[in-house]
Amino acid sequence: MNSLPIGIFDSGVGGLTVLKAVRQRLPRERVIYLGDTARVPYGTKSRGTIERYAIEDAAFLIEKGVKMIVVACNTASAMARETLRRDFNIPFLTVLGPGARAAARVTRTGRIGVIATEATIGSGAYERAIREACQGAGSGKEVEIFSRACPLFVPLVEEGETDSQVARLVAEQYLAPLRKREIDTLVLGCTHYPLLKSVIGETMGESVRLIDSAEAVAEETAQLLEQGGCLATSEEPNEGRFYVTDAAERFHRIAERILGAPLEHLEAVEVWGHDRLHTT
Ligand code: DGL
Repeated sequence: MNSLPIGIFDSGVGGLTVLKAVRQRLPRERVIYLGDTARVPYGTKSRGTIERYAIEDAAFLIEKGVKMIVVACNTASAMARETLRRDFNIPFLTVLGPGARAAARVTRTGRIGVIATEATIGSGAYERAIREACQGAGSGKEVEIFSRACPLFVPLVEEGETDSQVARLVAEQYLAPLRKREIDTLVLGCTHYPLLKSVIGETMGESVRLIDSAEAVAEETAQLLEQGGCLATSEEPNEGRFYVTDAAERFHRIAERILGAPLEHLEAVEVWGHDRLHTT
């Protein structure tokens, strides 16, 4: 069990922000990444479709023999978390909880912004998770949450447009209303958004703390494996394997830029049809 890989999936390159943090925190773990690049974006789709995609992604990783799955996609976390936990007998960690808990810890004024995909914002999952986290922390702090969907951020990142004039214009358009709300904390509620961190930071100004849940997710991954006695014991740093459902060359180019290292193994695969039949 200990030597089995960790599975991580997202609709595209966004989850690589989580993979990077997981590899830094757990350098001995083998990691398998699936980017569903044929069907990105997830965030503009309906719950039923996102659930189906998430089931197929998880089933694919389970067939590869992973010991746990990190759902490195807030949209799939918000829409399919219960379904995944019901259908598969394997530990799942989703990105939503760690991000909400980090925001609850960091805010001083209780005025928190959340930016995410349309599906994630529409689900209200972040608002619920942040309120729960604030209550759990027993701070008694009044929170006000201001949410905004930023659908164009995902295609910008998938195109590698993370530090361009176009990105700045789009950020200004989406974030100006949030600036007026005088928030002190902004949750980057989509794993693609940390790749636009410098543009988002410039637009919001220095007084706003940006929450990127990747490190918190890596820490919770380590805790989950440790509690289950499933941490890798090998002395050698392990390699990653990367799978995409389309446009492998583009993924390759952008992924190497994000990770700052060459990809060891990249393969284009089909996940369609991996479904409930594969339920463990
Ligand atoms: N990166 C994903 C998320 O965290 C999905 C973005 C998308 O495919 O729309 O929500």
